[in-house]
Amino acid sequence: MKHISSIAFLLMITLFLSFLTGCQSSSENGKAAEDNQQQPIIIQGPMPIEAENFASKLEDVEEEKSGNFVFYKGDVNDYPVIVMKTGKGMENTAAATALAIEKFDPEAIINQGTSGGHDPNLHVFDIVLGKRTVNIGSLKTGDRDDGEGIAPTEWKPMDLMASEGSAGEDPDAENIRYFKGDQDLLAAANAVKDTHEEGKVVEGTIGSADVWNNEVDRIQWFHENYGTSVEEMEGAAGAQIAKAYEVPYLGIRTLSNNKVNGGEYNPDTAAANQDYVYEVVKQYISTQTQ
Ligand code: 5AD
Repeated sequence: MKHISSIAFLLMITLFLSFLTGCQSSSENGKAAEDNQQQPIIIQGPMPIEAENFASKLEDVEEEKSGNFVFYKGDVNDYPVIVMKTGKGMENTAAATALAIEKFDPEAIINQGTSGGHDPNLHVFDIVLGKRTVNIGSLKTGDRDDGEGIAPTEWKPMDLMASEGSAGEDPDAENIRYFKGDQDLLAAANAVKDTHEEGKVVEGTIGSADVWNNEVDRIQWFHENYGTSVEEMEGAAGAQIAKAYEVPYLGIRTLSNNKVNGGEYNPDTAAANQDYVYEVVKQYISTQTQ
């Protein structure tokens, strides 16, 4: 009897230990890794013209919706790739990015689409690889009393990630927060630069806010003070969330317009950018599967 109960005791200990090991592996690895699947690469595009061209290149596509977000889940060269239509703007992009990370445990995220030029040397159809991405709507105004007017060139940057205290009171928060583009994604993008024949591909700084700037002096102010190459409405929001989860991230933006040098809006740039990003993804996959 005593012998049987010690066997039962040993069995219970073994079961308990294997339960603990199971818990550990599921908290250390993401969902995809746990199921022994390849982690997908996610390609984000805000508007239909910025996502559907890439989605049409996927093999074995399944469509999934969540809120306003559409996920086209398929393969490129037998590697899982998910194209997401995020909708425009910072809020849509932040929410879509968090949702995609929780749902799909991605290997990497590329946020791509159109943008407006801040650099006079960049032209419509050129492409900027986001070596850095920055929120250009995160600002603190100067101190001005009733009747003293408004002075946007006095506004200071506000780093929302500086501390958990008040961003308005904390002088450490008066800094520009840049999110760095992932080195492996940048390397893949640089390696296939020559496939983009309609314009040049350069590394630069992508500025984002829920604002479309048409004042050339204001655009130049951002270019000089923040080093922006282009502006758009999504990149920094996705970068902030990807950083929170430590997921590799890169913005890739074509210029669809450039107010600084008279570049007229051309919507065909959106498809050309996706053609280029498709080459980047194939290159990145080839380095991941070596
Ligand atoms: N300013 C802001 N956003 C722009 N976009 C293209 N050009 C500009 C610009 N000059 C992109 C944004 C958004 C949509 C309006 O187009 O990222 O998704």
